[in-house]
Amino acid sequence: MRNIKDRKEIVIGLLGLGVVGSGVAQAILERKDGLAGRVGCPLRLQRVLVRHPDKPRAVSLDTGLLTTSADEVLNNPEVDIVVELMGGEDPALPYARRALTSGKHLVTANKEVMAKHGPELVSLAQSKGVELRYEASVGGGIPLIGPFMGDLAANRISAVHGIINGTTNYILSRMAAEGLDFNIALKAAQELGYAEADPTNDVDGKDAAYKLAILATLAFNTRVRPEDVYREGIRRLTERDFRYAGELGYAIKLLAIAKEREGAVEVRVHPALVPQESLLAKVSGAYNAVQVEGDLVGQVIFYGLGAGSRPTTSAVVADVLAIARRLYQGIGPVPRPTQDTGRAIAPISRLSARYYLRMVVADRPGVLAQISRVLGDLSISIASVIQMEADEVSGTAELVLMTRPALEESLQQALREMQDLGAVTEIASFIRVEA
Ligand code: NAP
Ligand code: HSE
Repeated sequence: MRNIKDRKEIVIGLLGLGVVGSGVAQAILERKDGLAGRVGCPLRLQRVLVRHPDKPRAVSLDTGLLTTSADEVLNNPEVDIVVELMGGEDPALPYARRALTSGKHLVTANKEVMAKHGPELVSLAQSKGVELRYEASVGGGIPLIGPFMGDLAANRISAVHGIINGTTNYILSRMAAEGLDFNIALKAAQELGYAEADPTNDVDGKDAAYKLAILATLAFNTRVRPEDVYREGIRRLTERDFRYAGELGYAIKLLAIAKEREGAVEVRVHPALVPQESLLAKVSGAYNAVQVEGDLVGQVIFYGLGAGSRPTTSAVVADVLAIARRLYQGIGPVPRPTQDTGRAIAPISRLSARYYLRMVVADRPGVLAQISRVLGDLSISIASVIQMEADEVSGTAELVLMTRPALEESLQQALREMQDLGAVTEIASFIRVEA
């Protein structure tokens, strides 16, 4: 560790100059004096790894800084802090390992790497006496990792409910408000820089599952892996579901939920009906919100822009500053003891929830009685049934049915049995309700 008096600058190596990397480079270059004031000495951008050096960039910087060789960042003895903003697992993971192994501090926004390999990287960083920070990996500019590690650490957390994917929330908001087609709304989200390089990660709930795994690991002091998270995406939602949900007093959101259930941890990402008057229902566009229940603090809500260049830059640069300040002051990284309490993951089959079902059935007497019998035999109580629309040509009617709390495995069994009823043409939607 160099002495405080030796520090004339803190040197940054950037991996990636895309949506977030450009914002970070721009902030480091344009806010030079302000950032130096916060650290005690200037930050210098030394090298920037890209794939295509000739590509037009959203930031104007000396093209001499660009390189296509990772070695020029990772093997560069001058670089103090590596900032990984490439995304994906390969080569981001090996680069992260190399950076830490060679004694460089690491800041990353990479939720896939942190969700899959976070504990391994945290241990590696600690063994090398360097710091690993990843605030931007969840919730863009919203402080979440810091609060879970610090401000909320005295609590026993019982539940986390979040809207943690900006792309899908943007898509759902536009579908709900304007009846917009899914693909048009997705294209707009991509143009605004919200979407992942592969937007299927957003749309199919993978991005939210990575983020939930990171948050749940911190919230419940237990290792939650992405594959532990039950996951459904938003592709099957239609304009009708938004309309009918609205008539029933609900919004539809892609929720990420982590809860304590009988000592185990329940982790799931799926579309859910939420009451229109709830705070989560009011989160629209690329905004994210995370609602946490702690035994001491009660309910707290974190809200802000969860995607996009500038909000994510805010979190990344804050992490860089936190490390740089300590480097300047000659203070080593604060060890962050991670505890794995080895809790079990609660299976989705044992979830108890209320459900919204939309189905197309034959428009004739006795059909509702058949459906009620299937549900009743499985101890599923109906809260309401509404016949929405009838199609005289095909002789079918559309039913929307809301249940009282029921076991997921019973509901799934009921869906299978109802599908076998000759009178049921289609079970078009099945959405859980979160009060
Ligand atoms: P992006 O726009 O696709 O940028 C990726 C950058 O990495 C590009 O500059 C690309 O180079 C470079 N790159 C990728 N693979 C490379 C390789 N093998 N070798 C060298 N360079 C490589 O991605 P982004 O949206 O900025 O996201 C970056 C990270 O931030 C991801 O982990 C993402 O999940 C996370 N994140 C993004 C947001 C957001 O709103 N976008 C928010 C929070 C977190 P070229 O430019 O030359 O192709
Ligand atoms: N694709 C992500 C989102 C970026 O839409 O939320 C932020 O992690």
